[in-house]
Amino acid sequence: MRKWTIFRQNPKHSGVDLSESVCCNGARRLVEWFRKLYRITRRLYPGFGTMLSAAAAERNKEPILTVLLENVSTGRHLRALEISSGTGQHVTHFAQALRNITWQPSEYDRQSLASIEAYRAHYQLSNVMPVIHLDASLPHQYWGGIQPESLDLVLNINMIHISPFACTEGLFKGAGAVLKPQGLLLTYGPYSVNGQVTPQSNIDFDYSLRQRNPEWGLRDISLLNSLAQRNGLYLEKMVDMPANNKCLLFRKESLV
Ligand SMILES: C[S@@+](CC[C@H](N)C(=O)[O-])C[C@H]1O[C@@H](n2cnc3c(N)ncnc32)[C@H](O)[C@@H]1O
Repeated sequence: MRKWTIFRQNPKHSGVDLSESVCCNGARRLVEWFRKLYRITRRLYPGFGTMLSAAAAERNKEPILTVLLENVSTGRHLRALEISSGTGQHVTHFAQALRNITWQPSEYDRQSLASIEAYRAHYQLSNVMPVIHLDASLPHQYWGGIQPESLDLVLNINMIHISPFACTEGLFKGAGAVLKPQGLLLTYGPYSVNGQVTPQSNIDFDYSLRQRNPEWGLRDISLLNSLAQRNGLYLEKMVDMPANNKCLLFRKESLV
């Protein structure tokens, strides 16, 4: 991952240079206090203030946005939760194009949480909420206060195959609870179809994932479909995406 900082670095204190605007002792002490806090925070959380960049996210953000624009209303206010927002590249990209949606990013990894906040600070988007810590394997009651049936969209990109299956189970169970009737769960990634992984590049990728962690690996769409059905969702659409990925669109059943 490539890294760059959103703050201009000052070699003396490696923080934000505010000295020009300091005009009295009280203000100077306050600035010193903030610099100290900033240094301590960077020591505790090395990613603080750093916008991480994932090449895959840079490549797939536009094709995924196209699917969103074709399947999500742009004419009314909606609420969306992104699970495993990663660097923050996706949520800030989508939020710029879909201003009618209030986006809630979330992450499990602490360094990624800081990166998402750095992207938020950089883009200053009023429709992106502060990131919440969210472990997809936990019940939705632990999802940062997200209320049942409060969301129109749950988005999950490239997590299902790079996390233990408990995360996938939690994702579908949680989405079934927090989505409004007719709400949408959109997942993106590589999948196997009827037990077959194709083409060879996905077979190799699946193998390398399982070598890294035996709990990881491509999941079968029929398995995801049965998980969806158990949680009040159904597979409405599959969209083929570049590089042998797919978008899966699961719709929450209405009550009537
Ligand atoms: C390959 S990255 C994808 C990140 C981002 N969605 C993207 O496409 O750039 C996999 C993500 O799964 C997340 N993840 C792993 N375990 C998780 C869990 N228990 N709950 C939520 N997310 C998890 C990681 O933190 C990481 O952000």
